[in-house]
Amino acid sequence: MESFVYDYPVKNYFGKGSLDRALQAELPQMGDVVMLAYGGGSLKRSGLYDTLVSEFKAAGKKVVDFGGIMSNPTYEKVQEGARLARQEDVDFILAAGGGSVFDCCKVISAQAWLDQDIDEFEHVQHKVPNEFIPMGCVVTVFGTGAEQNNGAVITNEETHVKGPFLGALPKWAVLDPAFTLTVPHDQLISGAFDTLSHCMETYFGTPRQDNVSDDMNFAVQRNIIRNMRALVEDSGNMQARSELEYDSAMAENGVLKVGKVTDFQCHMIQHQYGAYTHTNHGKGLAVIHPHVYRHLASSAPTQFARWAREVWNVQEGETDLDTAYRGIDALAAFIKEMGLPTTFAELGGDASDQTLSAVADTAILTAGCAKKLSSDELFDILAECR
Ligand code: NZQ
Ligand code: ZN
Repeated sequence: MESFVYDYPVKNYFGKGSLDRALQAELPQMGDVVMLAYGGGSLKRSGLYDTLVSEFKAAGKKVVDFGGIMSNPTYEKVQEGARLARQEDVDFILAAGGGSVFDCCKVISAQAWLDQDIDEFEHVQHKVPNEFIPMGCVVTVFGTGAEQNNGAVITNEETHVKGPFLGALPKWAVLDPAFTLTVPHDQLISGAFDTLSHCMETYFGTPRQDNVSDDMNFAVQRNIIRNMRALVEDSGNMQARSELEYDSAMAENGVLKVGKVTDFQCHMIQHQYGAYTHTNHGKGLAVIHPHVYRHLASSAPTQFARWAREVWNVQEGETDLDTAYRGIDALAAFIKEMGLPTTFAELGGDASDQTLSAVADTAILTAGCAKKLSSDELFDILAECR
C-alpha cells in the first residue's frame, strides 16, 4: 500500500431522530448567527425548513436565509452567499440538501474569510484556504457523500468550467434516511449510481495488487447493487434507503481510498459535459462509465477481471480481458435495469460535434490509473455515448 495519514474529523449522526440528537449537542457551539442554506424549494415543501428555523429561533439565534442553490452550483452563487455571510456576520452555516448545497456552502465558507477571489487564490496562485466559517450538513438526498469531505465542484458559467475547489470540511452531518422519502425516484437512483461510480473510480486506481481498501470497496459495491435493486422493487424500503445512504458516506469518507491513488476520469469527463449541458451528475455518469471502461480495460485487464468476478460474479472468460468485458457488460445491463439513461439522447443533453469537442478539449484528464486518454480518444468515447 501507499503510505498514508488517516484522520477523520466529521461527526456523523445517523438514523431516526438524528437531527434532534445533533441539534441538542451542536446548537451551543453554533454562535449567534446561523445561515440556513438550501436548494430550490424541497426543504420548504417537506417541512424541514420550518423545523430548523423554529429550533434556531428557540435557541435565540438569528437566522440568515440563503435559498435557491441550484443543482450544479455556480461560482456566481458562491459569491452571492459569501457576500451575504460577510454582511450578516454569520457564525455558522447549516447546509440542508444534497451535494449541490453542500459544495456551494463549503466554498462560501472559505470565500467569506478571503479578501481575494477564491478561484484566483486556488487555481492561479495554487494556495489552499485555511480559515472557514464552520459548517454542518443535513442530508436530504444521498449519493455524492459531499457531506463527508472538503472537496467541492463548482460551475463557472462564464468560462464553461465545472471544476474542483477546496472548501470547509463539515464539522458534522445528519443522515436520516426518512428525510429522503420525498426525493423523486429517478434522483434517488441517480444518486445511488453516483455512489457506485465513486467506488469504481476509487478501485480502478493504483496500486493494483490485492489490498484491504479494495476488498472493503467490493463489499460496498455489492451492497449498493443489491439495495438499488431493492429500492427499484419497493421505493418505500427503508432498510435499502439506510444502506444506500451509508454507502454514499462510505464511498467519500476516505476509508476506501486509504493507501490508494484514485482514478476519477469518468467524473472529470462528466463534470465537463455537465458544464456545457447542465445535465444530471449521476445520470451522466451512467451514460459515460461503460464506454470509458471498454477503452480502459485492455490497459489493466487483470484489475478489470478481478472487479468483474468480485462485484458482478461473472463467468470466467478465456482470458482476463474476456472476463473484464463480461464485467463491463454486466455493468451496462445493470444501468439499463435501473432505468438509468444509456445515451446522451436519453439523458437529454446536447451531443453535437461542437459540444463534444469542447468537452474533449477541456476535460481535466489526470494521469489516470489504467491509461491517460488523449482528447481525440475522449472525443471518440463521447461520440459513442450519443
Ligand atoms: O433544489 P431542491 O428543491 O432542494 O431539489 C433537489 C434537487 O432538485 C432535490 N432534493 C434534495 N433533497 C430532496 C429533494 N427533492 C425532494 N425531497 C428531498 N428531500 O434533489 C435534486 C438534486 O439535488 P443536488 O444536490 O443537485 O444532487 P446531488 O446530491 O446529486 O449533488 C450533485 C452535485 O454534487 C456534485 C456534483 O458534481 C453536482 O454538482 N458532486 C460533489 C461531490 C463532492 N463534493 O464530494 C462528489 C460528486 O462526485 C459530485 O461531483
Ligand atoms: Zn460523483
